[in-house]
Amino acid sequence: MKDALGSPQSVLVLGGGSDIAIATVRLLAGSRAERVVLAARRPEALDGAVDDIRSAGARIVETVRFDATDFASHEAFVDDAWERFGDFDLVLFAFGVLGDQTRSENDPAAAVDVIQTNFTGAASVAIPVARRMLAQGHGSIVVLSSVAAERARRANFVYGSSKSGMDQFFQGLGDMLHGHGVHVMVVRPGFVRTKMTAGMQAAPFSTTPEEVARAIARGLERGKEKIWVPGPVRAIATAMHHIPRPIYRRLPL
Ligand SMILES: NC(=O)c1ccc[n+]([C@@H]2O[C@H](COP(=O)([O-])OP(=O)(O)OC[C@H]3O[C@@H](n4cnc5c(N)ncnc54)[C@H](OP(=O)(O)O)[C@@H]3O)[C@@H](O)[C@H]2O)c1
Repeated sequence: MKDALGSPQSVLVLGGGSDIAIATVRLLAGSRAERVVLAARRPEALDGAVDDIRSAGARIVETVRFDATDFASHEAFVDDAWERFGDFDLVLFAFGVLGDQTRSENDPAAAVDVIQTNFTGAASVAIPVARRMLAQGHGSIVVLSSVAAERARRANFVYGSSKSGMDQFFQGLGDMLHGHGVHVMVVRPGFVRTKMTAGMQAAPFSTTPEEVARAIARGLERGKEKIWVPGPVRAIATAMHHIPRPIYRRLPL
C-alpha cells in the first residue's frame, strides 16, 4: 500500500533498463519505495541499476525477464509478478524504441517493430496489469508517452503515431479505472538525454531523466492524470497541434 504520504512502497517497472525509469525508482526509493521489481529483456544487464536503487534506500530490488513484444507471455508474466511479489502500488511503463524513421519508410518490418513495441506491447501488458490493480483496489499506472504523441511530425511519424496510440489507450484506461481506486498518469516528456537519444542533437527545452523523475513524483503526489516535462513543451505542442496542415507540412519538423 502507498504510505501515509501517498508514496508508493512497491513498484514494478516494465522496461527496467530505461534511464528515465531508473532515475524515477532511485528517487522513489529515497522516499520510501521498499520493493522494486525491474522487468527487462536482459535482466542480467541490470546489476548496476539494482545496486544503485538499493543504495538509494530500497530494501528489495529484483529483476525479472520481460519482453514487450512477446504478447503471448504477458498474462502469465503479470500473474507471476503478482504471485511472487504481492500487490504493486505503482506500475511504470517505461519500455519503448525510437526506431529509425528512414528505415521504417523502406522496411515494413522496422515500422511494425516500433508500433508493436510502443503501442501493441503496452496495450497487451496493460490489460492484465489493470485487471490485477482493479482486483487489489488501489495503485497507480504511470506510462511514458511523449510530446511526439500530440501530433505526428514528418521526421518521425512512425514513432509519433505509436506513442499517440498508446497515449490514447492509457487515457481511456484511466477513465475505465476511475472510481475504482486506481489512478493512471500519462507522462509526455520532450527531448530527454538518455540512451535513446544518445548522439542526437538536443531539441529546445531538452531535459534529464532526473527532471522527469521529479515531475513524476510530483504528479503522483498530486494525483495528476497527464503531465508534460518540462512544462513549456505543453504550450509548444499545443500550438503545433493547431497549425493548419499546409503550413505544418512546410515547417522543418
Ligand atoms: N529519451 C527521450 O527523449 C524520450 C522522450 C519522450 C518519451 N520517451 C519515452 O520514455 C521511455 C523510456 O525511454 P528512455 O529515454 O529512458 O530510453 P532508454 O534508456 O533507451 O529506455 C528504453 C528501454 O526500453 C526497453 N525496451 C525496448 N524494447 C523492449 C521490449 N521489446 N521489451 C522490453 N523492454 C524493451 C529497452 O531495453 P533494452 O535495454 O533491452 O534495449 C530500454 O531499457 C520510452 O518509452 C520512450 O519512448 C523518451
